Amino acid sequence: MIQVYAPGRAEVLGNHTDYNDGLVLSIAVDRGTTIKGAPRYDGKIKLIASDLQEEILLDLSEIRPQVTKEWGNYVLGVYDQFVKRGVPPKGFEIEISSNLPMGAGLSSSAALEVATALFLQQLYQTRFDKLELAKIGQAAEHQFVGVKCGLLDQISSLFGKKDHLIYIDCRTFEVRTIPIPSGVQFVIANSKVKHALVTGEYNERRESCEAAAKSLEVRALRDVTPEFLEKNRVRLSLNALKRARHVVGEIDRVQRAEKALEKSEIAAFGKLMWESHESSVQNFENSCQALDHLITASKKVKGCYGGRLSGGGFGGATVNLVESGAVESFTQKMTQAWKTTECLVTSACDGASVL
Ligand code: GLA
Repeated sequence: MIQVYAPGRAEVLGNHTDYNDGLVLSIAVDRGTTIKGAPRYDGKIKLIASDLQEEILLDLSEIRPQVTKEWGNYVLGVYDQFVKRGVPPKGFEIEISSNLPMGAGLSSSAALEVATALFLQQLYQTRFDKLELAKIGQAAEHQFVGVKCGLLDQISSLFGKKDHLIYIDCRTFEVRTIPIPSGVQFVIANSKVKHALVTGEYNERRESCEAAAKSLEVRALRDVTPEFLEKNRVRLSLNALKRARHVVGEIDRVQRAEKALEKSEIAAFGKLMWESHESSVQNFENSCQALDHLITASKKVKGCYGGRLSGGGFGGATVNLVESGAVESFTQKMTQAWKTTECLVTSACDGASVL
């Protein structure tokens, strides 16, 4: 029996920067997905999703994206990547369970991909390094799910470190960890609002960013400073300019946040989180009413340093930096601000592992 665990993540700063070769700060959260499984010798794959009480049974010759039971795509897509990397097809059976809320912006999907990749790494005795496992998860999402995501979610789930932020340079794939000052907690406020068209909106944003980079004749928006962007604004449509302003601003904010952390300037760090949210509202247009209510309310709570939407956007959750002593009053205020909200207080945790 093989057993593995992969955590979800919270994106702390650097929204939609990952597929623009940019910079991100994130944490692995204290909830995740567990997979237990074993090989099968009858040429079949069986997936059991305990929480959903659903299962999928397929022949190895039938591996393709699923139309119903879409959760299976995160697993099958990863399996497909192992085969594409030369691993001979071999059956297996797994049981998946998770305590990560789905659609909350905590990347339950990447947790499932990463857990599957770790499971298959054990099963097939492969030696892919952590970055390659992350890329396997991303490719599964591109090819079996249809979301043209970056690598933030998978890297965060794999490289998480207790009490540390993960700093990812999405051009060089340098991954560093930065200690989180004591006395503060991250509080995730899950609005439970879900947007039906997330995949389409996400891919459309990515296309706009790539079009903006092309018009500015750079490899990616990573190569653009805020000053350069404003000087060259006439080269972009208003839509592309706004999207680029968000990404370029986010990359700049991550750099400033890192400096603030070096000096333990928590208030300055938190302010950048609020600025990030404002840019999502004004420029990237990936927020929604529920998240805006939550952020407006967060600004009024004593002991809250900052907050912003976390992840793709268009619903889901906010991530907030809150003084430990103020967490209780903060969570109460969030439920008052948007009544379906559920708060999750999390510390930064270690990344995925074989149990
Ligand atoms: C989703 C994607 C990530 C990243 C974020 C936005 O979580 O999966 O790759 O682009 O949105 O920063």
